Amino acid sequence: MKNSYTNIFSFNKNVLKKSIKNLNNGIIVGLPTETVYGLGGNAYSKKSIEKIYKLKGRPKSNPLIVHYFDLKDASKDIVVNERLKKLYEKFCPGPITFVLKKRNDSKISPLGIAKLNTVAIRFPKHKVIRTILKNINFPLAMPSANKSTNVSPVTAEDVYDEFKRKIKLIIDGGKCKIGIESTVIDLSYEPKILRPGIIDKISIEKVLKKKIKKNIKKRKKISPGMMLKHYSPGIPVLINQKKHDGKSAFIYLGNKYKKKSKFFSLSKTLNLNEAASNLYKILRLIKKKGFKKIQIGKIPYLRSGIAINDRIKRASNS
Ligand code: TXA
Ligand code: MG
Repeated sequence: MKNSYTNIFSFNKNVLKKSIKNLNNGIIVGLPTETVYGLGGNAYSKKSIEKIYKLKGRPKSNPLIVHYFDLKDASKDIVVNERLKKLYEKFCPGPITFVLKKRNDSKISPLGIAKLNTVAIRFPKHKVIRTILKNINFPLAMPSANKSTNVSPVTAEDVYDEFKRKIKLIIDGGKCKIGIESTVIDLSYEPKILRPGIIDKISIEKVLKKKIKKNIKKRKKISPGMMLKHYSPGIPVLINQKKHDGKSAFIYLGNKYKKKSKFFSLSKTLNLNEAASNLYKILRLIKKKGFKKIQIGKIPYLRSGIAINDRIKRASNS
């Protein structure tokens, strides 16, 4: 596929080679995953990690997720436990991140994990990122490829819009299928969901054969990055809206307002996974169209709706 962006490349053997070379040399690469696009760098290299934080403008207190090809690779850096094995078996590779105790002999740069004694690990499913992970001999620290507090990117062009030419190589892997960030679950102690995602609490409980407790207060302490102001499209967002104000962009579920240019449906068929996958795309589109404000209708608080509500609530806190 041809495009007019000189730093966006379709995936092929040459681009694979080039991206591996860049990663080996401590250069940050824009990479597709099934959830959102990421900024990938060598998790063992302080220099690479520093570049990631600088590009994103991210506080150093907010640790990065470390991405691996498989559990065998990850077991060099984290302490594997039974719960991890069960969830890995069921959901990986896929859109879920596990927080685990770091091994004492782990080579992960302390800077990338906010000097914590835990590490968030993920096994992404997208073909491009899996091919790259298979061909390098270090894991990838990879936050979402957006400036800190912005909405995560779901296309290569979104990554370009965030960083322009500050990144030399962005691999185009198409639009991200999942469209919101992975579920983050802490398995270093009692299982706890730190960030809801498409893989929801009920599905996880089924695999663990155990109820997962809610503990918001503790969650904030454990996950320093989960600040309230996050996922912001840069214009005011109002949630749980019943009535359109006549001028704002209105995001909703269903197909009630078919032809009107100010109404944006997340899913015409009320499918919550589809709604999640369209959320960031629509937030960016609305911003580009020049709207000054976004209203969002009520989204049911169940399954993927929980993750959608989490993100729009944070967006509304900007
Ligand atoms: O879907 C995803 O997870 C994407 C793709 C690119 O893989 N990545 C992503 O990374 O969303 P990022 O950096 O935008 O979000 C990482 C989240 C943050 O909320 C951070 O606080 C949390 O994971 N996190 C990382 N390490 C942690 C740790 N040791 N304990 C608790 N939370 C941690
Ligand atoms: Mg992020």
